[in-house]
Amino acid sequence: MSDSTTPDLFGLAASDFGADFVWGVATASYQIEGAWDADGKGRSIWDTFTHRTRRPVPTVMTGEDGDRACDFYHRYESDLAVMAGLGVGANRFSVSWPRVLPDGTGRVNEAGLDFYERVVDSTLANGMEPWLTCYHWDLPQALQDRGGWASRDVVGWFEEYVGVLAERLGDRVKHWMIFNEPLSFVYGGYLMGAHAPGILSFKGAAAAVHHVNLCQAAGARAIREHVGDAEVGTTHVISPMHTSSPMGVFQEARRKADALAHGVFLEPGFGMGYPQDAGIFVAEIERNVRPGDEEAMDAGFDFIGAQYYSAMKAVPVPLIGALPVRQPLPKGTDRDQMGHWNNPQGLYDAIEVVARYDAVPRIYVTENGASFPDVVEQEADGPHVHDLRRIDYLRKHLGAVRRAQADGMPVHGYFYWSFMDNFEWALGYRPRFGLVHVDFDSLERVVKDSGHWFRAFLAA
Ligand code: GCO
Repeated sequence: MSDSTTPDLFGLAASDFGADFVWGVATASYQIEGAWDADGKGRSIWDTFTHRTRRPVPTVMTGEDGDRACDFYHRYESDLAVMAGLGVGANRFSVSWPRVLPDGTGRVNEAGLDFYERVVDSTLANGMEPWLTCYHWDLPQALQDRGGWASRDVVGWFEEYVGVLAERLGDRVKHWMIFNEPLSFVYGGYLMGAHAPGILSFKGAAAAVHHVNLCQAAGARAIREHVGDAEVGTTHVISPMHTSSPMGVFQEARRKADALAHGVFLEPGFGMGYPQDAGIFVAEIERNVRPGDEEAMDAGFDFIGAQYYSAMKAVPVPLIGALPVRQPLPKGTDRDQMGHWNNPQGLYDAIEVVARYDAVPRIYVTENGASFPDVVEQEADGPHVHDLRRIDYLRKHLGAVRRAQADGMPVHGYFYWSFMDNFEWALGYRPRFGLVHVDFDSLERVVKDSGHWFRAFLAA
């Protein structure tokens, strides 16, 4: 073992996190599967978005798409063996809705459902627990054509879809996440147009927030109906908010930015309704609320997945109240390919943002990771990727998780994003987040030094 993979965590060991602590890696369907039209799969909004040539705003900066991605669809068996080789106990993956229901509702595509059965079976056969995310952004295009998340009908569509998954996979899948980062797909897709379906609509985004909150609880109920012993949650990207001044107006901006980024997505699920006095966007969300909705949005979650990449700065903005912007940093600060920096305190703070809600029984860090321009080096004993910056990132962030735990926050697991390099949405294949390197021409996989380090850490 080389120095760089020595499991030294400033004296910390995996066992310090407790015997029941869940160690995993995460991926998402569109980002890894490829096989975009195989075996009866319907089109998703990301297929449309990436294939679009004439567009009002540029879609993927590099012109790339997820048509083939990592080809996980055909390589899941060997990939899951590699994953198990890292020593993790949990495989967090997502299901592509249009692979299972090509039209979004109605007819089930058996071949698609079979694929996920095989993924689940192979995950279990490799000694890992499947952690299933129902929705990680690839809505069936057929449903987008009927209004997508901006249409209240989505509640019924989503309930049906989740019911199909729970009925077929619930005997083997016990850990369920309804959504991956509602903030990202609602604001990114309906407010800023940077992600699929590429819409810029204040009203549409506000409606989508509310429908997502209704779906979240409806989905949780659908799972519980079929899976008595399910652990159900949802995941959120958490960006701790800072301000540049202790003055009232800045503190007020911080509160409002926090409400926009976290409150509107977390609080309805806890039966708290929407944050009050949080600006015109939240007021617009409220216009979609009908009698009984507040109760209907209470999802009774067993856990919340906290995903952390960066902290933000809240700036006061007239009317809207506040906007979260990227934190200004000293010149020369080392950033990753996404512009994020190695700031483990931010992860501690993100866990705290979730932990402050009494209604949260358990927290899992369901995503955390960094992207670097990793290269494969051919050496005498084979190919290597010396991603020492990622090892440094990992050990510091794990230290922050342990500190949160020691301070009494109910954090019970950590999933690194991502298992392997993949399609990073509007940024294409450039940002590499994986513990495993993927050559997107040959599709060859190479476990990076960080993957070896993680395995050694978990084994120690
Ligand atoms: C997200 C998603 C992932 C991303 C990851 C890196 O957090 O945006 O869950 O799909 O790939 O976060 O940006």
